[in-house]
Amino acid sequence: MHAALPELPDTIPVAPSMSMFDPVFIGIDEFGNPVYLDLVYHNLLDAGEPGGGKSVLIQNLVGHAFLCHDFTPVLLDPKWVELGMWMEAAEATGGVFVGPDIDKGLRVLRRLQKVMDRRYSWLLAHGRRKFLPSDLIKVIGIFIDELAYYTATIGTPEQQKEFIALVRDLVARGRACAMPVIAATQRPSVDIIPTSLRDLFGYRAAFRCTTPNSSDIILGHGWASAGFNAQAISPETPGVFYLIAEGGIPHLVKAAYLTDAQIHQLVDYVTWIRRNGDPHPIQLAA
Ligand SMILES: Nc1ncnc2c1ncn2[C@@H]1O[C@H](COP(=O)(O)OP(=O)(O)O)[C@@H](O)[C@H]1O
Ligand SMILES: [Mg+2]
Repeated sequence: MHAALPELPDTIPVAPSMSMFDPVFIGIDEFGNPVYLDLVYHNLLDAGEPGGGKSVLIQNLVGHAFLCHDFTPVLLDPKWVELGMWMEAAEATGGVFVGPDIDKGLRVLRRLQKVMDRRYSWLLAHGRRKFLPSDLIKVIGIFIDELAYYTATIGTPEQQKEFIALVRDLVARGRACAMPVIAATQRPSVDIIPTSLRDLFGYRAAFRCTTPNSSDIILGHGWASAGFNAQAISPETPGVFYLIAEGGIPHLVKAAYLTDAQIHQLVDYVTWIRRNGDPHPIQLAA
């Protein structure tokens, strides 16, 4: 006979924390199987039309990341309301939040580029090519919601160009030194994300698109005609997207969903467990 299971508490129990090197749960596939990402070693491009579910996916990833002991957050959100919810938690974690401020965004990205250079010097000095969980290094997760705002909307053309160049450098070199970039944007046309930059994202998530061409812009040329067309995703099912991982074929995924109340609960929890501060903070606040 089985003993009755204990009732689950309505708060998150204190337990050994997760690591950024753990698989990140993002939702289920069309067979109901869980889908995980290997976030540390991959960048993620999250694209599709407004209301498709891009920010919800980012919230899942951020929620996981804050529950990890080895996470330093860099959150950029010109609309405030998504990643801004984590501002207090980001400060408590020695990270930084950037709102609709391209000057601050540029300062933070330049600083990240320096951190990246130093991490590569360390790897070189130790004869290594990438960081491992045993290095106990902080994973600097760079989350950008509405990338286009910084690369095509605010600031001067020079600032926008510098922003794209810095993001490109981080996307190209960041993953081996534990600095993955997760960026969301509406249709990633060439003025926002040049194709050469798009191709550097190991993971690409295509939420509902208005045309097969937009879907191909995200997933890669030719997938729509092969049957993997994000235009076919129903507007009735936000959160459904095609996920393509390096070298694979796209998979249909339904993202998990955190309610506002659940996010607030997580923010309270992760802020509280860091109430004594981080003994080894990375100086990112600009
Ligand atoms: N995975 C999901 N499960 C359930 N509802 C979702 C999911 N993703 C998105 N939605 C619904 O769609 C709305 C828009 O999603 P959002 O992520 O804000 O879109 P985007 O950032 O692409 O504009 C959400 O407020 C929510 O109501
Ligand atoms: Mg959004």
